[in-house]
Amino acid sequence: MKAAWFARAVAAALVMSSACAATAVRAAELPTPAALGAQLGPRIGQAVTVAVLEPHLKHEGHMPEVRYVGYPADAVLTALFGPGWRSPGQELTFRALDGFMSRIPVERFAQHRAWLVHARADGRPFQVDNDQPGGKPVPLGPFYLVWDNRSSTALQAEGGMQWPYQVVSVDVGPSSTHALLPAGLAATYADAAALARTHCLSCHRIRGYGGDKMPLELDVMVRGYDRATWRRWLLEPASVRPGTAMPPLAEGLPAPERAAIAQRLYDYLQTLSALPAR
Ligand code: HEC
Repeated sequence: MKAAWFARAVAAALVMSSACAATAVRAAELPTPAALGAQLGPRIGQAVTVAVLEPHLKHEGHMPEVRYVGYPADAVLTALFGPGWRSPGQELTFRALDGFMSRIPVERFAQHRAWLVHARADGRPFQVDNDQPGGKPVPLGPFYLVWDNRSSTALQAEGGMQWPYQVVSVDVGPSSTHALLPAGLAATYADAAALARTHCLSCHRIRGYGGDKMPLELDVMVRGYDRATWRRWLLEPASVRPGTAMPPLAEGLPAPERAAIAQRLYDYLQTLSALPAR
């Protein structure tokens, strides 16, 4: 873990030093909650209490309400990057201690309210239960990105995929859609690329774009699958490989919709894998 942390710090430093290039990615390590509050100033630097339906504690279709303490995400992002982070076509990458990356288009922050939280309001440990049998509770700090999902059934159905925790740094840069939709691929696959981004690319990659947690190239992996095996693996990974750390696809959605997403991803990745490499 130390080595990975160091490598990331170096990578972030390299990115920072090239920040003058026009399309540069800008990276910011998050300070401690207290330092962040000071940086935000007296008006917005007062941590607020927010209530959300916690997707990581979903049990038998029910998400408990949990109250957290933190800062509005848009204020934090403006403090880190200046107001320019909102430019259309950019995306934010939230990096976790273990290399998990959540890529979130900036447009989402105009549609929904989000907070970067750092504690529970009730003073209990800042963690969620682990749903793996015998698993230890999962710490959420230093920072956890939560969304105002109480009035949005769409956000509730989406689950916790865009709720990165253990966040240590944030990048903002141009969206890497060109990796997911290279020239030669029909634009009608844009929806499938977006599904891959939401459901798969925090852990896996497509053509080098995506997360570090399990950096398999999905457009290469898909070649080894027929349609039925693919669907089973995505919808019920534990039935194929008991104890696997791969989560089932979008568990909050109805079964036909989950199956449709799996099929759509299969068609998209097979088509992509038949294109010449970059
Ligand atoms: C939270 C991280 C995470 C997410 C999100 C995720 N996976 Fe995985 N995936 C894993 C892990 C971990 C493994 C290795 C599992 C194992 O070997 O038990 C894996 C393995 C795989 C494999 C290789 C299986 C093999 O043949 O060894 C494929 C293919 C795959 N995932 C596809 C997907 C697709 C498609 C999505 C999106 C619908 C997805 N994954 C979402 C973590 C994830």
